[in-house]
Amino acid sequence: MTNPIRVAVTGAAGQIAYSILFRVASGQVFGKDRPVHLKMLEIPPAMKALQGVAMELADCAFPLLAGMDLTDKADEAFDGINWAFMVGAKPRGPGMERGDLIKENGPIFVGQGRALNRGANDVRAMVVGNPCNTNCLIAMKNSDVPKDRFSAMMRLDQNRAQSLLAEKSGQPVTAVTNMAIWGNHSNNQYPDFENAKIGGKPAAQVIKDETWLKETFLKTVQNRGADIIKARGASSAASAANAALDHVRDLIQPTPAGDWRSVAVCSNGQYGVDKDLIFGYPVRVKADGAYEVVEGLAMTPWAKAKFDAVHDELRKERDVVKDLLK
Ligand code: NAD
Ligand code: LMR
Repeated sequence: MTNPIRVAVTGAAGQIAYSILFRVASGQVFGKDRPVHLKMLEIPPAMKALQGVAMELADCAFPLLAGMDLTDKADEAFDGINWAFMVGAKPRGPGMERGDLIKENGPIFVGQGRALNRGANDVRAMVVGNPCNTNCLIAMKNSDVPKDRFSAMMRLDQNRAQSLLAEKSGQPVTAVTNMAIWGNHSNNQYPDFENAKIGGKPAAQVIKDETWLKETFLKTVQNRGADIIKARGASSAASAANAALDHVRDLIQPTPAGDWRSVAVCSNGQYGVDKDLIFGYPVRVKADGAYEVVEGLAMTPWAKAKFDAVHDELRKERDVVKDLLK
């Protein structure tokens, strides 16, 4: 039997993990023939609830679930892992912005960043816990793991944007391609309809309604998380877990020719972004498994102003946590 892939999930007794764990264990991410060993991290008060989650995982009798470890120590959770889903963090409540969580959640990623050094040689980490871009920056700066192994999740925003464009154009969601979400997973993100395509044509040639694109579309994607909190009384969970799975698959499979995926990765200065910010870019994974930021995309002055605003927001978040950056 193939060696199990060792997958850590933090916040393993929380809402999002409740969906991620079962789908990973069923083979929906790493393949139907790849056994999975789950390493689940929680804080001490949630360990009892985590035991319940583990009982349920066992009760599914997943053929691919090769083992489970439950722990409240990051060093144990990340020992020998190949992938980390870094979800464990407080969610925002009504009336808060994601950035308001930074003082409380940021410190979690200092110790967990260090603990990632205990991962396997190929360890990769993706951050969901908000504010995910800056939490990812904190983890990366506190770790010796190479920078290109860190990413934060923009895929929920990409999925929201694709779904809206599909609905408005009356086309299936699969017809919407080249959807880039620039910058931060925040209400200043820029969902780039100028470079998006519907059925292979520029989105704005299919949806001939500039006001809708610049106002309704933009604001709906930017504010979707808050709208879900207002409606549900809790932040998105199933759709966030679904996006986390999409995100990891995006990074382990070559991207279909001509398309790209939205991933927040460590900036190397592409598009003038400050080096090392974890910035939402259009990303392609090549046949050799390495990713690259898609360069040379055009932006109108209107779009560039949105891009600059979200870049500034990430600089400000970095300044707030400067004491946590090694
Ligand atoms: P939740 O409160 O249901 O679960 C979070 C879990 O994390 C809890 O069980 C908690 O005990 C645990 N936890 C807290 N500190 C921890 C630590 N230091 N180590 C390990 N576990 C720890 O919240 P949720 O709905 O699962 O959301 C988790 C995070 O994901 C929140 O910050 C939320 O805002 C964020 N989120 C991000 C996106 C995105 O697109 N990036 C989408 C949805 C939610
Ligand atoms: C989302 O986008 O749904 C999450 O980031 C949760 C939130 O706080 O909005």
